[in-house]
Amino acid sequence: MTQEMTKHLPTTKNERVEEVFDLFIKHMQAFLEEAKLNHEEYTNFVNWADRLGKSGELPLYADVFLETHVLQAMYTELPGTQPSLLGPYYVDDAPFVEADEEGIIDLPKRENEPGDVLYFSGTVKSVEGEPLANAEVDYWQNDNSAKYSNFDSDAPDYNLRGRFKTDENGKFTVKTIQAVPYPIPDQGPTGEFLGYMEQHPMRPAHLHIMFKAPGHETLITQVFFEGDEWMETDVAEGVRDELITQLQEKDGYKEAQLEFVMRKDQ
Ligand SMILES: [Fe+2]
Repeated sequence: MTQEMTKHLPTTKNERVEEVFDLFIKHMQAFLEEAKLNHEEYTNFVNWADRLGKSGELPLYADVFLETHVLQAMYTELPGTQPSLLGPYYVDDAPFVEADEEGIIDLPKRENEPGDVLYFSGTVKSVEGEPLANAEVDYWQNDNSAKYSNFDSDAPDYNLRGRFKTDENGKFTVKTIQAVPYPIPDQGPTGEFLGYMEQHPMRPAHLHIMFKAPGHETLITQVFFEGDEWMETDVAEGVRDELITQLQEKDGYKEAQLEFVMRKDQ
């Protein structure tokens, strides 16, 4: 064994890894019995998983097909707003944006940013119904070309991203543009899997928001818009009823609101 290989070996036993792996094998045995997997299918799976890893799409695949089940197992029975996927397009150092005199957070955007102007307002509360003033909000979304800044968009880095605080009533309003539905990358092994399932690659339009407040569990969630054609068949199954808002048409712009409820720290 070369030195290069040995330096990655763990040196201490991890009881949690052992516990989770033992459970995984126990349930895997029941699953294999039911699925009646044959050896050729097993080999096909290993080859596909190898292509997935080598293509760099493993985080994409996990975020799209597994993350929602982890969240549902953790949170469905708990009070407060349900989380939704963090997804692969978050960056943790978006600029801080101050509200203007009217209390509006004007997100970084290009001159004549394409798309319909949207004012999105949120109210952040505790499970007891108290407004959470001064909570940190970290916001990101795609642009009208269905792409994210810092990743695949032509826009400058941090376009349509920002961090800001809720006001004394736990409220915030961002001035942005309406997010649009987008396909997850589907030209690699993830797309191959979608093909086997006859599943389209689309996600409904959504806003991504992360909330942090002292004494509360960080809430990572998304906001969806009633009437979106991909709502029922979201490839990542990220939609929850309470995360759906209604777009209101105003004179030259759109408006939407939603309330968010943060759970106390465990
Ligand atoms: Fe997204």
